Amino acid sequence: MLLLAIESSCDETAAAVLENGTNLLSSVVDSQIQVHRPYGGVVPELASRRHIETIFPVVNEAMKQARIRLDQLDAIAVTQGPGLVGSLLIGMSFAKALAYVENLPCLGVDHLAGHLLSIFLGEKHPCFPYIALAASGGHSSIYLVNDPVSYKLLGQTRDDAAGEAFDKVAKLLGLGYPGGPIIAKIADKGSPEIISFPRAWLEPDSLDFSFSGVKTAVVNYVNQAKRKKEELHIPDICASFQEAIADVLVEKTLAAARTCSVSQIVLAGGVAANQRLRDLMSSRGRKENFSVFLPPIEYCTDNAAMIAVAGYHLFKNRKQLTSTIDMDVYSRSRMI
Ligand code: KG4
Ligand code: ZN
Repeated sequence: MLLLAIESSCDETAAAVLENGTNLLSSVVDSQIQVHRPYGGVVPELASRRHIETIFPVVNEAMKQARIRLDQLDAIAVTQGPGLVGSLLIGMSFAKALAYVENLPCLGVDHLAGHLLSIFLGEKHPCFPYIALAASGGHSSIYLVNDPVSYKLLGQTRDDAAGEAFDKVAKLLGLGYPGGPIIAKIADKGSPEIISFPRAWLEPDSLDFSFSGVKTAVVNYVNQAKRKKEELHIPDICASFQEAIADVLVEKTLAAARTCSVSQIVLAGGVAANQRLRDLMSSRGRKENFSVFLPPIEYCTDNAAMIAVAGYHLFKNRKQLTSTIDMDVYSRSRMI
């Protein structure tokens, strides 16, 4: 079974070809970081325009690398949402047109489902059920993944997503965009124990997150130091901030696994590329005898390979098989 997947929910245009649900034949990602960097964040209108320019070459390249002709495909999967509507529409329109011309089923995939299943692009696979932490620029949620097409939301952020907090703090410190990888790199030169930024644990049994407080705490710390004319040691601020975020993400994910009596934990989403989070999750998980699964870094941030995996399972489960010309995109996930 050969499936072409297309992803264009935010600032990456991506396409991938997957064979029989596991054999990835190609995965092409065009990142728009250079386009948005001067503005310190994603500019939706610029993102849409860039998707229009790159969608054809990206899909073409994915097909070329996979050595596949269009008439060999069995289905097309495309990110239906959540994301920027203008961006999603480019991928969706392209996928629908291709599916129509080639008379193929076109499957609408939830971007979050893609993240939750990205672990199957790695070498070590979990069994079902597993607990997954999906931490990205738009979401920070914990799911119980019962099988490839059924997910139960256990907790989510009440304000900023973890990646969003990284991006905002980097902007505040004048470090550039996107904030996550920049903060992670600078944090390597700092100590996480110098500044004790607050952790929002919320109610005792809550699996929800809140990251706006730690962001404000960094603002206050910086302003206070400036007022007192104290020198700022940016690596310590980055390391301490990163530690506060990783600590809460790990503890809540472990709490979810304990509550559900599930022994396997999976990380997903752009923030799962964070090495400190990966190390902390692995070491604390191991102490409690959980098996921790980490996707390869390139499949943590947005890509079409994960959309292909999720699309393959929709196809297999016959949950949604018709290529509907009126299928629409959505900005908010249906999984929350
Ligand atoms: O999953 P993703 O590519 O896009 C969304 O679905 O949002 O995640 C992007 C987010 C950004 O906020 C980015 O700063 C963050 O993931 N990110 C990281 C790292 N790499 C990317 N955050 C922390 N550490 C990283 N190494
Ligand atoms: Zn994403």
